[in-house]
Formats: sequence, structure tokens, C-alpha cells
Amino acid sequence: MTKNFHNSDVIWLDYVDSTNEEIKRRSQELSKPTWIVAKKQTKGKGRNGNVWFSSSGNFSGSVVFFPTVERSYFHLYGFFFGVALYNTVKKITKDGVDIRLKWPNDLMIENGKVAGILLESIQSPQSNRIAVIVGIGVNLNSHPNLNIDVKKKYYSQCIANFSDHGICQVSFFNKFRDELKELGFYVEENDLASILKLWKHRSYDIGTQIQVSDNKGGVNSGKFLGLDELGGLIVSDSSGTKKIYSGDVYFGG
Ligand code: BTN
Repeated sequence: MTKNFHNSDVIWLDYVDSTNEEIKRRSQELSKPTWIVAKKQTKGKGRNGNVWFSSSGNFSGSVVFFPTVERSYFHLYGFFFGVALYNTVKKITKDGVDIRLKWPNDLMIENGKVAGILLESIQSPQSNRIAVIVGIGVNLNSHPNLNIDVKKKYYSQCIANFSDHGICQVSFFNKFRDELKELGFYVEENDLASILKLWKHRSYDIGTQIQVSDNKGGVNSGKFLGLDELGGLIVSDSSGTKKIYSGDVYFGG
């Protein structure tokens, strides 16, 4: 995992529909790990077919790389990027601000969503390699005014509301890349347990009441009990303890 981020190319664009889609369009020519970062993204994609609203001045970037780990572990990159994102945001916000990673791939400040991560994979056209694309959207200076869905008990936030100053896209990106490199020193390619441990320390406390949506409209309440060794969510409710591998989670419900 380490070498993928130490030596990546970076392409800055003034605007694009979606940085994930732009990477797919350029996949013929991208043979080494490469970032595409857009100053403005016009048609951002979120997880589960959702739209990601990205105003000017916020961060929209995707990186493509070619993992050697088995496909069934690809989702763990989401936890790795999440930890780097947390560390970056921690350093640019005021002391005492409540920052948490929320399963599976969100960053929350004071229970408002500040960032999300979208993982995709494609077959690289010029080889048999599988390419992983990790797209990261961060509300640096503004956030969309989303209506709070009655089921989804969170709203949006932006980092600048918890900092003494506005956040520059370029300096945020440089700090984020530094964190990815730093984590790479001790998060080895096959050391999945370390990634999950770092992630858990930055998430909600065990026992927190949560609601879990199952992507089919169903929502169940339970207690957050942490992650299993594959990054699955462990939840307990009146019917017992369950492990959940897809869906979304809302805390405090
Ligand atoms: C989510 O929380 O649903 C994931 C949001 C991911 C948004 C980012 S912005 C950069 C990249 N390009 C996209 O179209 N989506 C991701």
C-alpha cells in the first residue's frame, strides 16, 4: 500500500463533472498512481447512487492505484483514507472539536457530515491489473443545505466552521497527502488489523446508539459494538448481535 502513495502524479483541473469519472475516462493513459483534483466538480457522485454536492472552494479529488492485495480487501482502503482524513482535519480544527469517523466511509464534525469517500474499481485496459479509484469529497469552506431526512439523522458541516480561518484547497491536499505517506510507514500492505485499529480509535464510543439503513429503505436501531476483522459493523439489538457489511449508519437515534 505504501508505495502507491509515495510517488503519485497529480493533475489539477479547473473543473470536471466527477473526478472518479475523469479517472475512468483517462484510464488508458494512467499507468502509475495518479491523483485528479478539481477546483470545481459539477456532477459529484456519492455512495449508493447519491449525488455529492461540491461547491467551489471545497475539495474534490480521486486517486487511482493498482493494489496487490486480494479484491476482497479493497474496501479496507476506505478505512485507510478515512484515518488519514481524520488526522488532517484534526490538525486544522480548533482544540476540543468533536471529530469522528462514521462507518463505513464518512467523517463527521459535531455530528455533521464533512467528508465522504467513494471507492470504485475497474479493470485497467492496458493490463490485467485491477485499478482502485478512491474519491474523496471534503466540505472545506461551505456545505450544502440538505434537508435532514427523517431517517438520516445527520446534517452537513464544513471544516471552516471549526477553524480560525478559511481552508485553502491546495494546502489541504498537501497536508492530506503527507498524512497518507506518514501512515504508510507503519500501515503495511498486509497489516489490515492496524488500519482497523486506527479507524476504531477515531470513531464513536462502543455502546453508542445507532441506526443502520440497509439500502432497501429499512432502518434498524441498535448499539454500536465496533468493527470485525473485515471491517464489518457489529451492532446489537433486542434480537442479538449482528454483523453488517453494507448500508449506512446514523448515530444518536
Ligand atoms: C459519499 O459520502 O457518499 C461519498 C462522496 C464522495 C465524493 C467524492 S468528490 C471526489 C470524487 N468524485 C466523485 O464524483 N465523488 C467523489
